[in-house]
Order: sequence, then C-alpha cells, then structure tokens
Amino acid sequence: CGIVGYIGDRNVIPVLIGGLQKLEYRGYDSAGIAYLDDGRMTLYKEKGKLAGLEKMVAGKCAEHTVGIGHTRWATHGEPNQKNAHPHINEAGDLAIVHNGIIENYLQLREWLTRKGVSFVSETDTEIIAHLIAYYLKDDLKEAVSQAISKLKGSYALGVICERFPDEIVAVRKDSPLVVGVGKNENLIASDIPAILEYTRDVYFLNNGEIAVVKKDEVMLYDEVLNPVNRDVFTVEWDVSQAEKAGYPHFMLKEIEEQPRALADTLNPRVKDGEINFDEIGIDDAMLAGIRKITIIACGTAYHASYVGKYIIERFARVPVEVEIASEFRYKNPIIDQDNFVIVVSQSGETADTIAALREAKSRGAFVLAIANVVGSTIAREADKVLYTRAGLEIAVASTKAYTTQLMALYMFALKLAYAKGGITKEEYHTYVAELQKVPENAEKVIQNKELLQKFAYEHFTEHSVFYIGRGLDYAMAMEGSLKLKEISYIHSEAYAGGELKHGTIALVEEGTLVVAVLTQGDLIEKCLSNVKEVTSRGAVVMVVTQEKYQDLVKDVADKIVTVPDAIDFEATITSIIPMQIFAYYMSVQKGCDVDKPRNLAKSVTVE
Ligand code: G6P
Repeated sequence: CGIVGYIGDRNVIPVLIGGLQKLEYRGYDSAGIAYLDDGRMTLYKEKGKLAGLEKMVAGKCAEHTVGIGHTRWATHGEPNQKNAHPHINEAGDLAIVHNGIIENYLQLREWLTRKGVSFVSETDTEIIAHLIAYYLKDDLKEAVSQAISKLKGSYALGVICERFPDEIVAVRKDSPLVVGVGKNENLIASDIPAILEYTRDVYFLNNGEIAVVKKDEVMLYDEVLNPVNRDVFTVEWDVSQAEKAGYPHFMLKEIEEQPRALADTLNPRVKDGEINFDEIGIDDAMLAGIRKITIIACGTAYHASYVGKYIIERFARVPVEVEIASEFRYKNPIIDQDNFVIVVSQSGETADTIAALREAKSRGAFVLAIANVVGSTIAREADKVLYTRAGLEIAVASTKAYTTQLMALYMFALKLAYAKGGITKEEYHTYVAELQKVPENAEKVIQNKELLQKFAYEHFTEHSVFYIGRGLDYAMAMEGSLKLKEISYIHSEAYAGGELKHGTIALVEEGTLVVAVLTQGDLIEKCLSNVKEVTSRGAVVMVVTQEKYQDLVKDVADKIVTVPDAIDFEATITSIIPMQIFAYYMSVQKGCDVDKPRNLAKSVTVE
C-alpha cells in the first residue's frame, strides 16, 4: 500500500492524487483521500485503480490545505470501497491511512465492540481510527501514542482530525514512513517518490517514532513522547530508484522483505502456541476428517507445493498428490468429494490454476486456496482462503511469495498433523515456536549476502548448473534451479540426488558447477555419496547446509553457505534464500534484466 499526506498552502487534492500516482506500483485495489474542507472532514474513496478516484474528485478545487491519501493493496478484507482507506471514527471527525498488518486486531475489535463501537469495514485499520478516537482528549499525538501502545504488528499511519486542523500526526513500526520537509509546507509518505516533486529533504522515522507535522514545523518524538532530534537527509536518487526504496532491483528488495513477510504471514495466526485458522473458517474437526489431499499449482508455487507434500505426508500421514495445474485439468483427474484440494497461487489469477480449481470444484472437492492477492479470482472461487502476507511482489522471479507459501503450508501441515493425532501437543508447540524463529533466521541469511555475491561473480560465466538434494532438499533444489535459469538464462536442472547417476551425470565434466542442498540430517550421508560422484568427475560443488552440519560437508565442498540451525524439516524456508541471492547476483553480473526476464510474465493469465 502507499500513503501520502500534505499540509501547506497548496490545494491538497492534486498534491495527494499526484503522490498516489507515484505510489500506485505499491498496490491499486482501491484508493482514497481525506481532507479538511472548511474545517469539515471530507472523504472520497473508490474501488480499483486510482483513475476512479481521480474522476470522483475532478473539479473539486477548493482551498483545502491538509489531507491524507492512500492506495491500497488489500491484506484484510476484499478490495472494495468500504474497505478502502482512509478510515474514520464513528463521529467522522478523524481519519487515518495505514500500511501494515495489525496482528491483534481481532482482540482489539472485540474489545472496542464491547465498548459499543460499531464497525463498517472488515479491515484491521478501522480499529486504529476508533482506538485513537477512544483515547483522544486534547492532544492528538498523545492519543496516537496511547493507541499504538495497544497494537501488535506493523504499521505506518497518517492521522488528521477536525479538532486539530493544523497538523498531521504520523507514526511507524516495521512499515516505512518518511516526512518530507518543505518551505511552508510539509508532507508524509510511505515512499520517497510521492514527495520528490515538492522536496528532497526528508526525515526517516525510526520504529516507534511519532511525527507531528505542521505547515511550518515538524516535531519528532519517541514512543514515550520525548522529543527527538534528527538530521534532515537529502535525497539524491531519481524517482525510479526511489520506488525501489534505494534498491537497484525489486527482486533484491523483495528478497530482503522476507523476514517481515514471513512474520506477517505467521504471527497473526499463532494463538497460545498453536496455529489458529478461525479467520479462515477451518477448524480441527474439519481437518481431522481429511483423507487425501491434492495440491495444484504452477511454477514457483508448484515447488512450494512439493514441500507441502513432504511435510503433510510425514507428520499428518495423509497421502498428498502434487499436480501441475496445466496437466491436472486435462487428465480427467480422479477427484471427488473425498478430496481436499489446495491450490497455491501468488497472483490468484493464473489461468491454468483457475481452471484446475474449477475442475476440482465441479467434481465435488473442497478447495482451499493459498493466495497472496486478496480478492483475486482464485481467492474468490475457492471455498476457503489462507492468505500469504507477502505484500505486493513486483519482480517476475518470485521470492517472498514463495517463502510465505512455504510458511502457509507448514502452518497447514502442522495444524493438520495435530488434528490427525500425528504429532503430540508438545511437538506441535515446539514446531510452531520454531517456525516463529524463521523470520529472524532469514534476516541472518540476508546479512550474509556479500559471500554469495562473491560466489556469483566467480561463476556467472557458467553454461550449465546442476542442483541436487534429497527429500525436502530436492524440493529446494528445484526452486533454486528455477531461480537461476529464469533470471540469468543459464541452463540449470534440479535432480533428486540418487537419480543423478541414471543419466544426468553424463553431463558433468571438469569444472561443472553443482549446487548441493544438504540441510536434512537424516539424508546428508546419502547425498554426500552423490556429491562425491560428481566431484570425482571434476565438478565444483557449492553446498547449502545448516551451521551444525558444516563439518560433515567440508571435505567435499568447494564452497559452503550456511543457514542458521533449526529443526531439520523447518530449515527449508531459510535454505532457499541463499539460492535466491546467488541467482540474483548471477543475473546482475551477466547484465540481465533481473526484474523482467525475457519471455516471462509475472502472472500468466493465458493457458
Ligand atoms: C509465472 C511467474 C512465476 C509464478 C507462476 C505461477 O510463471 O513468473 O513466478 O510462480 O507464474 O503464478 P501464481 O501467481 O499462480 O503463483
């Protein structure tokens, strides 16, 4: 989502609309603005792209000098007008825009409902408007500070109120927000491009900091409202760079967003140490009745589905078939009401996956979608949806959508395993607690990216790279290989370690690069024999393993990349990240178009 806010002497409407245009790449499900018109809160919002809102406000050119705007990429609630931002309190005199996800919004919603507040939208954002109104006495920043002390999750907020017409209050935690400092005018925005037309001087807010933005001054405060001094930062980037928040490519930005995306996908669904799917409408009794599962997807989502198969079969002991959507739909599939079908799709718009979903439903199967785009076709047509909360993914090569799909599948698998009696309560709690460490571990892998950059620079002239692994590591090898080929155009193949000797090993010659994924303790030894088969034929081997297995692999590896230790079956999510980073730098070094590789599309809406 994108946020913008303005206070100054200009007519606020074109400033807000212009800012939102620059942020539309962050989402375009709906858009809205709120401003004070003659001191009265005035609100316009519209479903769909910004053009709809623009039409709505066309010709309204009064002297409004304070306002906030938002372009939305839905995370809670359908992308419709009611759920569009800004959201207002019951009295309608206070408006807010919000980016991020409030993890404890259900509890807060219940609490506010008990206090007599009624809600008009399904969003987590609306509770914040009511909370601020609840605490508001005679200082807006104090009310904001009290309200955010109740929030868990991520947020960037812009708040305006009729009673405080001379200020915008802004605050952030784990969602970006900058304050633009102009002459006799000031702005807020989630991203710099929205304000570059007016100023290049900005304050970056740190987590928990509150800004009170007036026409001629900006005051910054920490969480407990102690004043904070900050130097102004002058932006020297151009607009297209700024849209990538300073990153050279969306792919790198999205790789680095994974810790946040993983936490957003998992944390709001953990309650008392267990996975809670109340929001989705799936309970343990329903899960206990599942006898066979079919997972259907394309591309990267298909690779994620493979991981799902391994862990569901291992812990829940339910047989799982994984199907490529384009194959499934034409094979007269054996599916009926006894099948529980899961379709996995980032966009929710992939034509083959939609067709497979319809095919499964027409044969009576129950369909759960794991989707990233709220309100997408797949999300709407499935019986239930478990949303990944990766946020908008722009680079064609999927990174954060993939790891959040894995997270969703782990959540589902563990919940199912417990409902089926496949794991004890104690194991369930241990595995969930371990999943909660994944974001932090992902962060550690990302911090190690220079090493992978160096490896990539040594190998970017390769013609062919092989990825091998066994079990879960084979699933990771498939995705690692796809990442490399799609963005660097280097031929690459993934093989189950034991299968290599049945043909592909004929292609290994002196100097061939083989990436061996060896994160699963019970299979390392077996896979090491496969690694030896290739090293004895001259291959150069890069091993991806957990820190605890380093010593086991050091004799065969030319290069070792480690990920932090975890319970083995949960080490997968972090183990793909080095392969994403490696592929990224290979592509950069080759001079390829990283974010828009040739011949590919982000969402394939044709068969
Ligand atoms: C395209 C994209 C892939 C994606 C696949 C499935 O090929 O380039 O990154 O994995 O479609 O897309 P979906 O949106 O259904 O996950």
